[in-house]
Amino acid sequence: MEQTQNTAKRGSFTGKIGFVLAAAGSAVGLGNIWRFPYLAAKYGGGIFLLVYVGLALTFGFALMLGEIALGRKTGKSAISAFSSINKRFSFVGWLASAVPLIILPYYSVIGGWVMKYIFGFAFGDGSNMATDAYFENYLGNVSEPLIWFFIFVLLTAVVVFFGVDKGVEKVSKVMMPVLIVSMIFIVVYALITLPGAWDGVLYYITPDFSKFSVMTVVAAMGQLFYSMSLAMGIMITFGSYMKKDIAIDKSIHQIEIFDTGVAFLAGLMIVPAVFAFSGGNEAALGKGPGLMFITLPKVFETMPGGDIIGAVFFLMVFLAAITSSISLMETIISILMDKTKLNRRISCIITFGVILLLGIPSSLGFNVWSEVKILGLQFLDLFDFISNSVMMPIVALLTCIFIGYFLKPKTLIEEARLKEESFTAKLFKVVIRYVAPVCLIIILVSSILDVFGVMKI
Ligand code: TRP
Repeated sequence: MEQTQNTAKRGSFTGKIGFVLAAAGSAVGLGNIWRFPYLAAKYGGGIFLLVYVGLALTFGFALMLGEIALGRKTGKSAISAFSSINKRFSFVGWLASAVPLIILPYYSVIGGWVMKYIFGFAFGDGSNMATDAYFENYLGNVSEPLIWFFIFVLLTAVVVFFGVDKGVEKVSKVMMPVLIVSMIFIVVYALITLPGAWDGVLYYITPDFSKFSVMTVVAAMGQLFYSMSLAMGIMITFGSYMKKDIAIDKSIHQIEIFDTGVAFLAGLMIVPAVFAFSGGNEAALGKGPGLMFITLPKVFETMPGGDIIGAVFFLMVFLAAITSSISLMETIISILMDKTKLNRRISCIITFGVILLLGIPSSLGFNVWSEVKILGLQFLDLFDFISNSVMMPIVALLTCIFIGYFLKPKTLIEEARLKEESFTAKLFKVVIRYVAPVCLIIILVSSILDVFGVMKI
């Protein structure tokens, strides 16, 4: 049944723009707005940005091309796409499909924080939220973050349950422009009014090579997978819906420019503000997942009408987050339906329960379970680490080996209608066969050594 549903759905992207918008809509989310800025702040600003953009243009491009072309060629989603070409590789599809299941629970915990902030601003609590200890105190609560997390997962599940995710595209069309305009406004306002913000801009865009380490590359690579929804089977599925006459390479350029543009803007909104309020203090820059929640209320506090602007901004972040969480849940459910023959609603209820269970530790890790550390990481960071720094690099490595040595790059170069002697085709081949596998092995080994504390890099 799922098969017929899939076939009916395939080819449903109306054209080139439809494809790019859908892929970009799935790509833009908390990864761009919440995750990118805190990593950029933590890993040296400009150097992180440089490494990220370099990886996006080479590695990100090649992997996305490989996934989309693989999907379009086979007309199948991840698990079946791999197995239809080589049975021994079907486990890669499985591994890729497990990634959304690890991401969605903690993604929803952050989604819950965002919701709390919308209501906080809407009820005029902005000045209180701008105080130093507010965020930490909030996370110290056991029940409130859990309740918001629960509401976020429930909303996601309700949309998926009733199959009203067609509305997602409409929501995205309004949300994206408003989000981008409000980010530009916040950037301009902060740069004009906050003393010291320009030092932050310099930190953000000038690479300081002394801050480079292997961990910069590890973090940038993990972020690239996360932000562009790579190495988790999503782009394979997207590709299977893509019409044959659309130029894959051009579409990827547009998706990458859009996704990286939003991330860059989010960083420009947050990193200089951190500088303005802390003078570039290392501890403030290294705040991690809380950075956006700690910094932005301080900016809104200085604005006339800041509470309203804060509420609107966080509402847009929420919409970006929930459109992503809907497609993450959709992915999990379609695999479940495919493999178990359960119907959509039952699959949805099961997934809802599992996501709740898996998300609870991430939320409690900030209060009652704050002493519990696995590999030195609290739960949210642990899930983030497992998906971004372990599973996605493994999936990416296996995908590259699969394309590079079993399927052969030539097949996908033909699928993407690239001329074999073109620069793009050569780049694809070299990256997939040599550069990416070598980098990925280095990255995997170093991130694992780092977390086990064997070697500090
Ligand atoms: N790319 C999304 C973001 O930046 C997160 C994400 C990862 C995602 N995998 C996905 C979204 C799959 C939709 C579908 O926030």
